[in-house]
Amino acid sequence: MAPIRTPIRASILTVSDRSFSGVRADISGSAIVELLKTEGFLLSNTAIVPDEKGEIVRQLLQWVDENQTDLIFTTGGTGFAPRDVTPEATKSIVERETPGISEYIRLKSTEITPHASLSRAISGICRNCLIINLPGSPKAACESIKFILPVLPHAIELLNDDPGSERNH
Ligand code: MTE
Repeated sequence: MAPIRTPIRASILTVSDRSFSGVRADISGSAIVELLKTEGFLLSNTAIVPDEKGEIVRQLLQWVDENQTDLIFTTGGTGFAPRDVTPEATKSIVERETPGISEYIRLKSTEITPHASLSRAISGICRNCLIINLPGSPKAACESIKFILPVLPHAIELLNDDPGSERNH
């Protein structure tokens, strides 16, 4: 009998004052949606919040509390600008950080541009949800996801204490 395949449920939180206020289209969020669909993920939620720690935390916790998603990608707010607070917001709610994921993204990204070293992105586990910060540009966000795609199925299986299960990517 063929194994039961369960797509990973993924959500995307765009963190950007300009996209939130409608001054700029959320190109990164859309690009990530397309990439994840192509890779067989199930899209649970998308939202846009301003670069405010409280707003970022509120949206992340809502999705986690309602058990709506296995995985959340944030995009934006990881740099050095005074209002870049996505890593701080994420850090305030994760119970366990997953530095290997963010270190790997940064390492591989610096092979493309040294500017990748300017991302302060973190990642971590909040209950049984994995939250991964990505940079704000569509190019950077999609490059980053592609680097870690191969490890995501096993990561989510482990979070659900189900290392033998089959996910469809
Ligand atoms: N990572 C990849 N893979 N490719 C890129 O082009 N650019 C970066 C970076 N990470 C980049 C990247 C740049 S220019 C910056 S300033 C930082 O992430 C932070 O981005 P953010 O402030 O939009 O979150």
